[in-house]
Amino acid sequence: MDEKYTDALIRDFSDARFQAAFRRYFTELGLTVRDWDGLWREMNAEGDNTAYLRTGPDGETVGFLQFRPIQFTSWFFEETCAFIREFWVAPEARGRGHGSALLALAEARFLESGIHTAILTTDTAADFYARHGYVRDAGCRAKNGDDVYVKRLG
Ligand SMILES: CC(C)(COP(=O)(O)OP(=O)(O)OC[C@H]1O[C@@H](n2cnc3c(N)ncnc32)[C@H](O)[C@@H]1OP(=O)(O)O)[C@@H](O)C(=O)NCCC(=O)NCCS
Repeated sequence: MDEKYTDALIRDFSDARFQAAFRRYFTELGLTVRDWDGLWREMNAEGDNTAYLRTGPDGETVGFLQFRPIQFTSWFFEETCAFIREFWVAPEARGRGHGSALLALAEARFLESGIHTAILTTDTAADFYARHGYVRDAGCRAKNGDDVYVKRLG
């Protein structure tokens, strides 16, 4: 990692820096939330959400990547995958490798914890993910109706 940048692991989503970044992200997407406090409480109550929050040399927020383990089970197989839920780099910091770095950091963590598959949906950054080895899984449907992308991590 570039020494100028700090990647903090967030598990308590009452973190003010995370909240400010998340609000910017939703504003950019044109999404409105009526009960922000309820959203942070829900993120905490789910119990297994985690995020990397990257800050710069002056403490400014560069971006974040939030993920959660998700289990796929059937009568014969079961697998825990990592669901990349939310991912954002501040517009003024884009195109300098921060998104790629946050993704690599998260993927390394998944592998360390025994998770070999990352899964996500996107309707905004399909090409970005494709460049990082994610493949559309046409046989997998998501609740939000967006395309599903999967990467086998090794
Ligand atoms: C997707 C995102 C996290 C990438 O962050 P970043 O810091 O700009 O990424 P990097 O600098 O590592 O990579 C930039 C490269 O990816 C490409 N890229 C970035 N966002 C892209 C997108 N939405 N679609 C296609 N390509 C994209 C850039 O063109 C650039 O390519 P280049 O290296 O050939 O110039 C950032 O664009 C973002 O926050 N977008 C808005 C929120 C979003 O869509 N999040 C994903 C939700 S699933």
